[in-house]
Amino acid sequence: MGKTIIISNRLPLQIHISENDLEVSPSVGGLATGLKSFHQEGDSIWIGWTGLAAEEIPDELEPQVAEKAKEQRCVAVSLTTEEIEKFYYGFSNRTIWPLFHYFMEYTEFDPEHWEAYKQVNQKYADAVLERVEDGDTIWVHDYQLLLLPQMIRDKNPNVTIGFFNHIPFPSYEVFRTLPWREEILTGMLGADLIGFHTYDYERHFLRSVNRILYYDINFNAVNLGDRIVKAGSFPMGIDYNKFRNAALEHQRQPSSENTEIQKKLDYHKYVSRGTPLILSIDRLDYTKGIANRIRAYGYFLEKYPEYQEKVRLVMLAVPSRTNVPQYQLLKKEIDELVGRINGRFATVNWTPIWYFYRSMPFDNLIDLYSASDVALITPIRDGMNLVAKEYIATRTDHTGVLILSEMAGSAHELNEALLINPNNFDQIVDSIKQALEMSKEEQVRRNKVMQKRLKRYNVEKWAREFMKSLKQTTITRNEIKTL
Ligand code: ADP
Ligand code: G6P
Repeated sequence: MGKTIIISNRLPLQIHISENDLEVSPSVGGLATGLKSFHQEGDSIWIGWTGLAAEEIPDELEPQVAEKAKEQRCVAVSLTTEEIEKFYYGFSNRTIWPLFHYFMEYTEFDPEHWEAYKQVNQKYADAVLERVEDGDTIWVHDYQLLLLPQMIRDKNPNVTIGFFNHIPFPSYEVFRTLPWREEILTGMLGADLIGFHTYDYERHFLRSVNRILYYDINFNAVNLGDRIVKAGSFPMGIDYNKFRNAALEHQRQPSSENTEIQKKLDYHKYVSRGTPLILSIDRLDYTKGIANRIRAYGYFLEKYPEYQEKVRLVMLAVPSRTNVPQYQLLKKEIDELVGRINGRFATVNWTPIWYFYRSMPFDNLIDLYSASDVALITPIRDGMNLVAKEYIATRTDHTGVLILSEMAGSAHELNEALLINPNNFDQIVDSIKQALEMSKEEQVRRNKVMQKRLKRYNVEKWAREFMKSLKQTTITRNEIKTL
């Protein structure tokens, strides 16, 4: 049995340099937080980017960057400022990300960005090829590296490659607008198994392969003539025990760190005497529906004025992709919306929205999940959304209500949540009311069913099922070869 090589654009650790010293922090985002648990358990190595530009790293600190990565069995791929601009902020986040989330009006088709995307994918492929040995399994992740599977296979035809797409795969009608659609599909088809969070994404992919590359599809298998590639749906889970145990620990010993969040929560507990808290947590991204969520909350306070001074929205937004204009505009819009609602409704004793624009240590995240009576998660589109699952898992007494957009992949597994269409304001507002008025018995009943599911289909099981299918696909491939 060889080792597993994980490759994703971003490593699970981020490195910052401040005053010639290295600071390491965990990466935010479902891919990093989810896969990290799988990586920590096994014997894998993980190849990816630290978040630093090559030019930012002084020569004398280079060995330390490599060392910090190595401590977590990671290998750092170095990206220049220009590569970051054109590959990461460019093709990955101004073309693929908006297109795959159905934000066509945000999608740019820039040939220079495409060139950089190919080049950087080749850089990652070279980093893999340098380290791969017979019997190894390669597991490539996400939309920044769609060309990687075929680039690796070109040089090493017999290697086993899995690919997992952490974001939606759009319908054929949307995907076909991409000028480089053939190249992207061919890149992905270098893998033996291609995984998606939901069956719908899988079908969209297979249909695109059929309509654009004309390959025959038999159920979930693509016949390339000399090779069969399988597609499958594997909804990613969370590290259930980690979240549940952290929440149990929190009950015994609330985090002692006197952070701003902790102070606010203490204030809320003692001064507001248990008026409900509604929680909203995301990376600051236009796909997450944050602006509409704030508008809906304002509308809620207007439609049901009896809730003024009786409820509070705690909104946490993590800075993300800050060089992309749409993210800058969104930040401004959110600042204004929060200001407008607080300005309109606030009283001497009450601020309707507590807004934080920053990342949080894990303990604070648990504090928030534990303290909140309702989680309001309303993405316009979301591949999965692990925050919804984490909220459910941390509710140790099984109370708390999840309001979840049906446009999130996780909605398929969390049917007992209050599911909403994020464009239907009345539905969101009425769901907030329903959540706040739901009996404890009903809360517990709904939460228990979901927790049970999350416990059973956790992240470890997700990775194991994917690996099992990958192995099966490769066995079939070798059997076909010997016929
Ligand atoms: P995405 O992958 O699009 O960012 P997910 O909801 O799937 O969305 O994953 C987000 C991950 O980032 C979760 O695992 C969550 O715990 C983590 N996270 C979200 N907000 C914060 C925050 N403020 N600080 C630290 N981690 C966060
Ligand atoms: C999503 C994507 C990941 C990405 C993460 C954070 O979860 O699927 O690939 O790493 O967001 O985004 P960032 O651009 O900071 O890596």
